[in-house]
Amino acid sequence: MSERVFLSGPMGSGKTAVAAALSDLWQTPAYDLDALVEQRTGLAIAELFRTRGEAGFRAIERELLKEQLALPDVRILSLGGGTVVDTESRRALLSTGTLITLTGTTETLLRRVRSGKGRPLLDVANPAKAIEQIVALRRAAYAECHAQIATDERTVEELAQAIDRVVTEAPLVVPLGERTYRVEVFPGVRHELVPRLRTHAPGGVVVVVTDTGVDDSWARRARESLEAASLTCVPVCLEAGEAHKHIGSVERIWDAALDAGVDRDGFVLAVGGGVVGDMAAFAASTLLRGVGLGQLPTTLLSMVDSAVGGKTGIDRRQGKNLVGTFHQPKFVLCDVETLATLPLAERRAGLAEVVKSAWLAGEAEVCMLERAAQALVDGELEATSDAVRMSVQLKAKIVTEDELETGSRALLNLGHTVGHAIEAQGGFSALRHGEAVALGMVAAFKLAVRLGTATQEQAERMTALLRALGLPTAVEPHLNPATLAYIGSDKKRRAGKVRFIAPGAPGKTQIVPLSVADAVGHLLA
Ligand SMILES: NC(=O)c1ccc[n+]([C@@H]2O[C@H](COP(=O)([O-])OP(=O)(O)OC[C@H]3O[C@@H](n4cnc5c(N)ncnc54)[C@H](O)[C@@H]3O)[C@@H](O)[C@H]2O)c1
Repeated sequence: MSERVFLSGPMGSGKTAVAAALSDLWQTPAYDLDALVEQRTGLAIAELFRTRGEAGFRAIERELLKEQLALPDVRILSLGGGTVVDTESRRALLSTGTLITLTGTTETLLRRVRSGKGRPLLDVANPAKAIEQIVALRRAAYAECHAQIATDERTVEELAQAIDRVVTEAPLVVPLGERTYRVEVFPGVRHELVPRLRTHAPGGVVVVVTDTGVDDSWARRARESLEAASLTCVPVCLEAGEAHKHIGSVERIWDAALDAGVDRDGFVLAVGGGVVGDMAAFAASTLLRGVGLGQLPTTLLSMVDSAVGGKTGIDRRQGKNLVGTFHQPKFVLCDVETLATLPLAERRAGLAEVVKSAWLAGEAEVCMLERAAQALVDGELEATSDAVRMSVQLKAKIVTEDELETGSRALLNLGHTVGHAIEAQGGFSALRHGEAVALGMVAAFKLAVRLGTATQEQAERMTALLRALGLPTAVEPHLNPATLAYIGSDKKRRAGKVRFIAPGAPGKTQIVPLSVADAVGHLLA
């Protein structure tokens, strides 16, 4: 096993003891950052705080952590109580291994630290209040982790087993402070629905939103598992398809929830593709000014794209997704087994977004897809899980940098400017969104070659990959004035310019502001 675990949490949460238990379980040594700091400086932590102040201590701690992260043999590391407050350190920990926050009630923490000796931050008249204040101050930093595990009344061996399970399940994290959530991707993860709802919808009503294409299969089973666990379930089954992504469908969700007496503890669960997910999320963000949301995506496109990132929306007659909000889910469960019933054409459409993610991510990711193309078309579970994980990881990184799309999040629109125009020209029913995005990426390369950000070889490589996945690539018939006129009405344009997403080598996509006239001119050339 080559996974690495970092244990965080307030003083008294048991980091060192749990690290020792995990060390027994994994038969590998555990390291302790505080002990390493003391060794390096020859001073006790309390002494360091006294002589160098907290800032001086944190600077030493940060440097030592960097060194430890560069040593792959350090597989279990317990951190200082405040190590993760430093954003750079926390993000490095999240991307290097599994970051676990151990928690406990104030009573538990206080009982474990007792006298406060050697704990400089607790050397005060009212240590209980001091602990509460420290935990409150660090709440957002502690929340950014792969799992928060309550330690009260559990043995260190039980906690080591719980951590081992998190490492095996390898959730992906979208780190957004206290709104942090996890995207879990593995075959059978739908069976975790009830425990996730127990955590995020305690005692509330769960409005289960689905559509007629998923109701009989996955949504019914989800509802049955909720009912078997005595959770209150309000079913809403919408008509399937983009044509039903309108305010009337959202009203059905609102009304079902309100008729059932939903309160602020209420919860909306989306079981379905991106259409269901976008509408359920929009309803969740507006019901009582915002209730919790969970996503159980059942199309490849919704797993790799729409279920993650918090964009919600409905269509208007003037265009797609023109009314919407940002509302992040509490959890996302991507169960690739649910794709078994998805028609091949829908899976292929999702693969277009996977190609987009790989191209944004880099060379290794594109190579992975080139190798796995046939397995992906065949729907092999392992290849599909890897592709979903790669896409979600990329999306999580971009969403963390730019949640509200004021900058780099626009990169996710690669292939969407022309793709959207092609969809609009076809009345949003001639092609699937993913098929239009595939064509849009071929068009984006044509434009990028003309602008000099991409080479002809790179363009051909993209086309070959899309073809291997069975996606359409013949874009020329779509590059006509009537279709491209829709670029001028793209909702992402500003002051007559589109933010053109110009691809190049994998991992080298850039945003180029371009006048609509220039963009259209290059595409028609
Ligand atoms: N919010 C975002 O960030 C974001 C990102 C990308 C796309 N989107 C939106 O996503 C939507 C497209 O989503 P989609 O491609 O998932 O389409 P979709 O939700 O319409 O699903 C496609 C079809 O497959 C059926 N289906 C779903 N799961 C199935 C399963 N497991 N087995 C059999 N049939 C199944 C559905 O009933 C539907 O008929 C668009 O409205 C788009 O705007 C949103």
